[in-house]
Amino acid sequence: MEQKEMMQQIDSIVARLTLEEKIKMIHGAGLFQTGSVERLNIPPLKMSDGPMGVRSEFMNDTWLPAGHGDDIVSYLPSNSAIAATWNTKLAYTAGQVLGEEARGRGKDVILAPGINVKRLPNCGRNFEYISEDPYLIEQMAVQLVQGIQTADVAACVKHFALNSQETERLWVNVEIDERAFREIYLPGFEAVVKKAGAYSIMGAYNLIRGQHCCESELLLKEILRGEWGYDGTVISDWGGVHHTVAAGKSALDIEMSVTPDFDEYVMANPLLPAVRDGEVSEVDIDEKIRHILLLMLRIRLIEIVAADQPKIQKNRDRKQGSYNTQEHQWSAFAVARESVVLLKNEKETLPFDRTKAGRVLVIGDNAVCHQALGGGSAEIKALYEKTPLLGIKEFFGGNSEVFFEQGYEVPKKTERDLSWQATSLDGEPAEPLVETEAQKEVRRAEYKKRAKELRDAAVKKASAPDIDYVVFVGGLNHEYDVEGLDRDDLNLPYEQDELIKELLEVRPDTAVVMFAGSPVAMQAWSDRASSILWMSYSGMEGGYALAEILFGAVNPSGKLAESLPFTLEESSGYVGADYLGRELTEEEHQNMDAHLTQEFSEGLLVGYRYYERKNIPVQFVFGHGLSYTTFQYGECSVNISEGCEVTGTVKNTGNYIGKEIVQVYVAREGAAAYEPVKQLAGFTKLELVPGQEASFTISLSPRAFQKYDVDKKAWVKVPGDYEILVGSSSADIRDRKRCKIN
Ligand code: BGC
Repeated sequence: MEQKEMMQQIDSIVARLTLEEKIKMIHGAGLFQTGSVERLNIPPLKMSDGPMGVRSEFMNDTWLPAGHGDDIVSYLPSNSAIAATWNTKLAYTAGQVLGEEARGRGKDVILAPGINVKRLPNCGRNFEYISEDPYLIEQMAVQLVQGIQTADVAACVKHFALNSQETERLWVNVEIDERAFREIYLPGFEAVVKKAGAYSIMGAYNLIRGQHCCESELLLKEILRGEWGYDGTVISDWGGVHHTVAAGKSALDIEMSVTPDFDEYVMANPLLPAVRDGEVSEVDIDEKIRHILLLMLRIRLIEIVAADQPKIQKNRDRKQGSYNTQEHQWSAFAVARESVVLLKNEKETLPFDRTKAGRVLVIGDNAVCHQALGGGSAEIKALYEKTPLLGIKEFFGGNSEVFFEQGYEVPKKTERDLSWQATSLDGEPAEPLVETEAQKEVRRAEYKKRAKELRDAAVKKASAPDIDYVVFVGGLNHEYDVEGLDRDDLNLPYEQDELIKELLEVRPDTAVVMFAGSPVAMQAWSDRASSILWMSYSGMEGGYALAEILFGAVNPSGKLAESLPFTLEESSGYVGADYLGRELTEEEHQNMDAHLTQEFSEGLLVGYRYYERKNIPVQFVFGHGLSYTTFQYGECSVNISEGCEVTGTVKNTGNYIGKEIVQVYVAREGAAAYEPVKQLAGFTKLELVPGQEASFTISLSPRAFQKYDVDKKAWVKVPGDYEILVGSSSADIRDRKRCKIN
């Protein structure tokens, strides 16, 4: 049906709704659903988190699990893992699986993907996000959204915008210069709107320039609706709406929150008198209803049949979705296989020779830790999760003995807070454990003693001459990669540095696997390690995928989608002590206005853009990732007659079949000190058998040679001399060509 005809039908429905009915539709009537209007057959919109699979069911009005056991799902790799594949087809596949599972679970809106820019390496939600680079975010996010929406489900891309820290996330006000805002933080969202046609977007908790994102005129009205022409639905983050009149007038369509007093939500009963008194025009409310009905039509939740009078009915042609299929498991596996990054591999330590792996020792809590049920709203109940130890055991079957030593311990939490989200708006961390100094001392001493015992046992076992290979799996877990919390530093927890150092003393060939959703400091031992692998939360088959890579059945082909700096203090967005804010007064708590301002003063210099410009060395650079084979790049050429095309060749000169991610960066000569030295502008992933040479053509978008002109309020071409750099990482540039843009 033509959009125009559809809008006419929608309008005729809007005209038949009472104000009370309209208001029912624009706020939560359950923790994850909106109100329905039975009189006109308008169903609720059913939503669910989240990015790594469809979250388990809660009761409608409390954060208690519904507990039916039928909400177990496929566990997909996190966005940090998907991003490390640099494989846009896999991003699409992951999106498709997520969409199908959401539909299979009866959902209309899946609250994913998260695409905030990784401004700070310690942000607790970095595992949910894609990259520090807007171009890479855009490329992956568009595919994820398109994949999700093939299943007649709406993606809800979050969190719009500038939500790059968890600390004080409910009331931090972001001040940012216009150019950085446009060039770094908005392109991902702009792309999912314009290129992927995202049916919904989630407003962020934080404020921008003094106004909450979910009520922001600038963000929602001027930019999203105005400049980008967005007609999809804007949904608030849970508890992100604060002012009835501002929200009513704003371009936000649906208010969701975490408390069960649904009728008292900001856009519920309090909105009725505001509309009746003319403070908020009913036209604004109608606009919200239009967006919601349009979304319902797009996902084929409803159809409008026009007899004499348009009528809503259930659309029987809607895809039914599916969950826990073998196909979904294979897709999760395919992503996991390409998400592992080989950071270091001296003396070709890896792959280990599987034919000589009679006795393998696996060490580390992350080798046995089940990660799916953690992280905050991204948690899911996985049908299964292959941990690294399980993966390695399955890989070898009965022909190798695989031993396990825990090596380090994760202190047990006294009790898991099942309803953390219920109190998430309080803004204060959960009641701290009341402990005297003396008790603390005792606890610490006990922990140290236990840590030493575990370490000694692991090191002893690793020293045994009959152990053929040692694999250490450590890093972070969802105690650290978690919603609502940023880490204090990048240090490895649980005395892992000590353990790794001792292991490397006795077994310098230990394969060190860092399993984490955001950067960790490795300098205490990285020089001594001969091989280091980097992997993120990589879904239900992650452990098996790791086994294949360690023992050479699969060649690693992931690359870092973010820089790994040495310390937090050296990182681009380091915000210092003021970032921790302070306790709010009771009054401030009530209004939740800006109580802390965060200047994004690094401007354009986020991630590698900063480290390169300031000459700050990092542990591993953006785009880095090794292979068991070697790739030789031929000369590249740049054609700028029509658009800009970069062509070249890559040859597999080693002994393994492998995949190489060719990266194209653009550097403008004479760029100012506040501008990046170079920026990613294209990439492709090629698979080559030994000896094979392939050519590539990468088209650069006009944006590669543009900047956002603040005065003209538009992207404008910047004429001048440029260098086009083709490489295997942001630092490993294999060829470069100059060109002039007129
Ligand atoms: C998170 C969102 C999530 C929502 C619903 C919020 O706390 O920020 O990402 O989708 O809760 O669980």
